[in-house]
Amino acid sequence: MSSANAFNDALTDHHGETPIDMAELRRYRQGNGATDAALESAVQEVRRLTLAWSDGRTGQFPLMWLRDHCACDQCRHPLTRERLYKLLDDPLWERFATDEALASFEFDDRSLTLTWQDGHVSRFDAGWLHQRCPGHELTTLLPTATPWVEAFTPAHINHADFVGNGDGRSRWASALLRDGLVMLDQGPCELEEVSRIAESIGPMRSTNFGGRFDVRSVPNPNNAAYTAIGLELHTDLPNWRQPPDIQLLYCLENDAEGGESSFADGFAVAEILREENPEAFRVLSETPIDFRFQDDGDDIAVREPVIDLDGDGRPREIRFNNWIRDTLSLPADRIEAWYEAYRAFWQILRRPERRVELTLEPGQMIAFDNRRVLHGRNAFDPNTGKRHLQGTYLDLDMLQSHLRVLSR
Ligand SMILES: [Fe+2]
Repeated sequence: MSSANAFNDALTDHHGETPIDMAELRRYRQGNGATDAALESAVQEVRRLTLAWSDGRTGQFPLMWLRDHCACDQCRHPLTRERLYKLLDDPLWERFATDEALASFEFDDRSLTLTWQDGHVSRFDAGWLHQRCPGHELTTLLPTATPWVEAFTPAHINHADFVGNGDGRSRWASALLRDGLVMLDQGPCELEEVSRIAESIGPMRSTNFGGRFDVRSVPNPNNAAYTAIGLELHTDLPNWRQPPDIQLLYCLENDAEGGESSFADGFAVAEILREENPEAFRVLSETPIDFRFQDDGDDIAVREPVIDLDGDGRPREIRFNNWIRDTLSLPADRIEAWYEAYRAFWQILRRPERRVELTLEPGQMIAFDNRRVLHGRNAFDPNTGKRHLQGTYLDLDMLQSHLRVLSR
């Protein structure tokens, strides 16, 4: 049976059936990595069911996994969708290992129904089981970080498309997750527009510089950003255990001479260093050093390496900020090697083919992943005009969340 009604098609699958409620907001029928393939067979084997779908996918589902993922109102809270079932308290626990836990099961092309020995009934949507089949990775809804190639240029999204009902917001968030840098164009020259944009995604991440900051030259600055001097490429706040993830910088005025912005992909630079100078890469990734900010009210310090690697040896975070690098506290026989390595990394950062340079226009907002992409600016002459940016930070969790919600 197929529906000719486009609206219903969005709520049901194209057979006109409503999916079984799996207490899950991500789509598990059609699109976004979901399938409408029919469940064709279900066979009980030792301690598990083996399921097969019409698209050729097969999977083994341990009985204890199926019981744990029951989505009925007793096992999942009907409003919060959070798990209520506790395997620790399940008297059937011992029987999952002996095949005695399951009394019976039945299936059709859209669903699987299990009746357990204690009388509990679990119903599963076949698309949901297909999507979460053990051994098949759940398709991510997020783009993966892709290192910049030479002469990389960031994606540009119009402010009107970002705030409108189209896909501008998704394109903006996807580019930011993929490239770590994206430009928003032709926004209003209004104070706090950056706050409105940030808060449409998530709460602003506050630091010792506040929740939302102004970048312009001021008397008695506590930070180089609040002067007119040039800023070497850096990451912000590497002296925090968790530096801010995403930075938004919104340009309100920029008619002073100079002040061009520059950016470089720290992950790409780290990979070049690994290739060209493996010893320097090893030193920077294996040697924690101290970063520290101090003023009258705060003293925020952490000891971490410049290049932080994940479990697979890939760069996960770059901490590079020469102003707030603290006293280099290492054994004497490791100090020179560390400086050599630091210098080698910095030299690659300075290569023109590794940098994006741009002049922010009033109404433009640049967004970047502060734990991956380094940023800097040329000196400007405050006597030739005004330069005023407003900025804030966002947690990566909220950016990822935003894109997942947009893709529902
Ligand atoms: Fe900065």
